[in-house]
Amino acid sequence: MIPAKLIEKKRDGFELNAKEIAWFVEGTVENKIDDCQLSALLMAIYFNGMSDLETFSLVESMVNSGKRFKFNSPGNYIADKHSTGGIGDKISFILAPILSSLGIIIPMIAGRGLAYTGGTIDKLESIPNFQTSINGKDFESQIQNIGYGIISQSSEICPADKKIYSIRDLTGTIPSMPLICSSIMSKKIAEGLDGLIMDIKVGNGAFMKTISEAKILAAELKKIGSAFKIKTDITFSNMSQPLGRYAGLRCEIIESINCLNGDGPNDLIELSLELGSKILLQSKKADNKNEAKKKMLETIKNGTALKKFEELIVAQGGNFEQLQMSGSRIKNELYICSDRDGYISSMDTEKIGWALVEMGCGRRRDKDLLDYTAGIKFNVKIGETVKKGEKVYTLFGENIKKLENAKLMLHKTFKVSSETILKSKLILC
Ligand code: URA
Repeated sequence: MIPAKLIEKKRDGFELNAKEIAWFVEGTVENKIDDCQLSALLMAIYFNGMSDLETFSLVESMVNSGKRFKFNSPGNYIADKHSTGGIGDKISFILAPILSSLGIIIPMIAGRGLAYTGGTIDKLESIPNFQTSINGKDFESQIQNIGYGIISQSSEICPADKKIYSIRDLTGTIPSMPLICSSIMSKKIAEGLDGLIMDIKVGNGAFMKTISEAKILAAELKKIGSAFKIKTDITFSNMSQPLGRYAGLRCEIIESINCLNGDGPNDLIELSLELGSKILLQSKKADNKNEAKKKMLETIKNGTALKKFEELIVAQGGNFEQLQMSGSRIKNELYICSDRDGYISSMDTEKIGWALVEMGCGRRRDKDLLDYTAGIKFNVKIGETVKKGEKVYTLFGENIKKLENAKLMLHKTFKVSSETILKSKLILC
């Protein structure tokens, strides 16, 4: 086959067949296709979209480019959760140990921060010595031994997706529905899942700003899930304010541990229970949502979920004691206070995310160093009352200059109303 001919075919609006897609994807991984040719095909896909059959072929080829896990766990349900990203989203650290302690196998492949949103892998790496790059064999043994793990995508897992994603990032072809969905789902299929819960974030801090965009994404993801026999459920959740009371890196791990200790904010518990109950229903470990939520809450009460999280940290080389000690060594604090009495009526969550990037909780460029000590505490959130002069945000971290820069970015990121404001709904549908 000739790459330019396939690019022309897609450019002119014709459908590529499975063989053509597989050939192009293999060529990409084996460096037989030039980056400029891959870029041209991606742009043609960006403009013309993909049929369902093309999307399924792309997913299949991306999965086949690497390792496909097959866990030897007869009778056990293998599941994962995926979030489309936001600010303060630490649900994986709460949900995975809860589900794991209820017998669900969770081989999670997670991502780093993207644009202004925080990354699960970056947050885990804030735990002293915690390893996220684990080879496939060791990951399989870990899953066999403790039933769950959270690792980053390596060159063993969907290498085609890794390559294609890096070119999309450079060529303005990230926001393409078939490319986004095939990228997300290829990694989930490589995990060898029976079931998946997708937390699609909607709002001013999410990539999907409206529920109608989010529903289109959900339908595409479900279609791929069903074609590859993964039970896929969707929850749409509100990302028009940060999730929990903290956003940053290490502070989010500590907040998750507090949550697993029974001392977490309600929104984190509510969303974890909502997402987890869908997995327990899929796996038939519960007959209804109430029963599922009760079982999950019990794992917090009896301490098994927290034990599971400690087990994960130790299994991946992390130091739990050092992590707990590091939380109390905060060097600098700056505050943003309200200039009037009233109720918090809105928060500009994307801007808060960019301020976090400025503080070192995310990257502008690949090589940027992260600051694990930095973060923001949200002392008040939407619907809560605030008095003139009271702290709305507390910024903390080692680098005072970065905190000062972030403070300038944060001044106009919340509004205070004199009218009563209702607390916003977390689970949208
Ligand atoms: N996450 C992914 O893994 N891929 C995308 O394309 C977007 C988000």
